[in-house]
Amino acid sequence: MVKRFTVAIDGPAAAGKGTISRAVAAHFGFAHLDTGLLYRAVGALGGDPIAAARGLRPEDLRRDDLRSAEAGQAASRVAAIPEVRAALVAFQQTFARREGGAVLDGRDIGTVICPDAEVKLYVTASDEVRAERRWQELRAGGAATSFAEVLEDLRARDARDRDRAAAPLKPADDAVLLDTTELTIESAVKKACEAIERQMGQGRG
Ligand code: DC
Repeated sequence: MVKRFTVAIDGPAAAGKGTISRAVAAHFGFAHLDTGLLYRAVGALGGDPIAAARGLRPEDLRRDDLRSAEAGQAASRVAAIPEVRAALVAFQQTFARREGGAVLDGRDIGTVICPDAEVKLYVTASDEVRAERRWQELRAGGAATSFAEVLEDLRARDARDRDRAAAPLKPADDAVLLDTTELTIESAVKKACEAIERQMGQGRG
C-alpha cells in the first residue's frame, strides 16, 4: 500500500470528474473525496454560510438533497465567499495526506488545496456535451427540465466558478489536461490511470 499519494482532479461541472475520480480511487485502492459536496452541504444548510462551513458535520454531507441543480447553484454562490473556503481547507488537506492514497475532485484542488499533489488532472468537455450528460442524469432521476435550461444553468455556474476572486476554477500549470468531449468513460479512466502510473513509476525510480 502506498503511504501518501494525492491525486487532484479539477474541472468544470459535469465534465466527468466524479466518474473518473471514483474509478481511479477504486482502481488504486485510494480514498475519494468529492469536495463539491462540502460546498453543496454549506449551501443547503441555509442561514449564515460562514457559520455553516465552520460547523459542518459529517452527517451534513449525507443529506439526500445535495445533488439537485438548485443545490449546485447554491454551492457555487457560497463557494465564492473566502471565509467559507478557508473553513474547509484543513479538512480537505488532512484527507489528501491520509495514508493509503487519496483522490480529491473539485475546482481548486491542484491550485490551492493540494499544490504539491503527486498527480493533477484537469478534466474538461464541451459545454454541449457536459449539458447533455447532466440532462440525461437529471431525467433519469425524474427531474422535468429541458436541455436548454440545463445548458444555461451549467454556463452560469461555470462563469461564477471561473470569475470569482477566491480560488477560481483553472488548471494548475502542471496539470495533465483530459478533454472527455469525444472520449468514452472507459478511455478517460484509462488515460487518468496511465497518468497516475507514470508518476508512481517516477516516484519509485
Ligand atoms: O463539483 P460540484 O458540481 O458538486 O460543485 C458544486 C459547486 O461547489 C461548484 O459549482 C463550485 C463549488 N466548488 C468549489 O468552489 N470548489 C471545489 N473544490 C468544489 C466545488
